[in-house]
Amino acid sequence: MKVKNLDFSDDPILLAPMAGVTDVGFRALASSFGADATVTEMLSARAMAHNPKKTEFLTLTTGEEKIKIAQVFGHEEDYMAKAVASPLLEKFDMFDINMGCPAPKIVKNGEGSALMDNLPLASKLITAVKNSTTKPVSVKFRKGKSTENYVEFGRMCQDCGADFVTFHARTVEQGYSGKADYEAIASLKAKLSIPVLGNGDVVDFASLQKMKETGVDGVMVGRGSMGRPWLFAQLKQNDIQIDKYKTVEKHIEILRQHFDENWLKLYIRKHFLWYACDIPLSTELRLKLATCNDIDECLALLKNALN
Ligand SMILES: Cc1cc2nc3c(=O)[nH]c(=O)nc-3n(C[C@H](O)[C@H](O)[C@H](O)COP(=O)(O)O)c2cc1C
Repeated sequence: MKVKNLDFSDDPILLAPMAGVTDVGFRALASSFGADATVTEMLSARAMAHNPKKTEFLTLTTGEEKIKIAQVFGHEEDYMAKAVASPLLEKFDMFDINMGCPAPKIVKNGEGSALMDNLPLASKLITAVKNSTTKPVSVKFRKGKSTENYVEFGRMCQDCGADFVTFHARTVEQGYSGKADYEAIASLKAKLSIPVLGNGDVVDFASLQKMKETGVDGVMVGRGSMGRPWLFAQLKQNDIQIDKYKTVEKHIEILRQHFDENWLKLYIRKHFLWYACDIPLSTELRLKLATCNDIDECLALLKNALN
């Protein structure tokens, strides 16, 4: 897949944006295992204008990432236009607009998935972003909010100049429950002329094949990679040695370069639990990870368990 000057691979697999998950370390790990592109956690266009410091830590990158995508959200054209022109996002290769987030605090502001019920505003926002940057712009959305209007919505994105779309084939109401609708993905792919990336429930090679049968131009992988950034190597059937412990160690090493140890101790707990998800651990040891007070102690615990 080629998008303007950006050469994604022939069968690109991207790391999906996940707030609270796809931090700078995790994006670097996913890239090292073969993710063709990574997307930041969603960035508020408004926050970027008023409190750029707060956004800065979400926009950290490493040399490891191949194609770097910053995802922005908002409901105001001027803020969205300013966000993609902001020096904070200069190092990113392209931008994605979040039009699928179902979180009530986002929806109540008319942002994220609320825009699927407001095509006139959604089109103004895409146009404002397109007019503010020469870099490619994509849009990520769902099946629909009050109606399943994903084809109409996809066409609107295309007409506004979106360079590709990513389709998470669940309704807003579904949240993350039920199964992603691969027939809907095939149907959207057949109707648009811009590339369509499929998203939802790709967790292993078999589910990747099912997704590919929809004819999509690429695939975005989210939850399946939590605690398993090496999934990208497995999906691509890259013949590389996977050292799970070294991977966790590298995650911590990158985060320690940027974050204070006290903040990190709290933040890393969920990642530790995801990393430990597939390994037999006593309740006592799992609790230690969940309440991490000493990162090195938890690392030692994982070293014994992962090897
Ligand atoms: C914890 C979490 C955070 C998420 N944050 C974002 C986000 O910031 N922006 C976005 O567009 N989607 C977000 N998503 C949705 C994912 O990008 C993806 O569309 C969804 O999880 C379905 O893909 P999957 O089945 O591969 O996980 C989030 C999902 C999860 C589980």
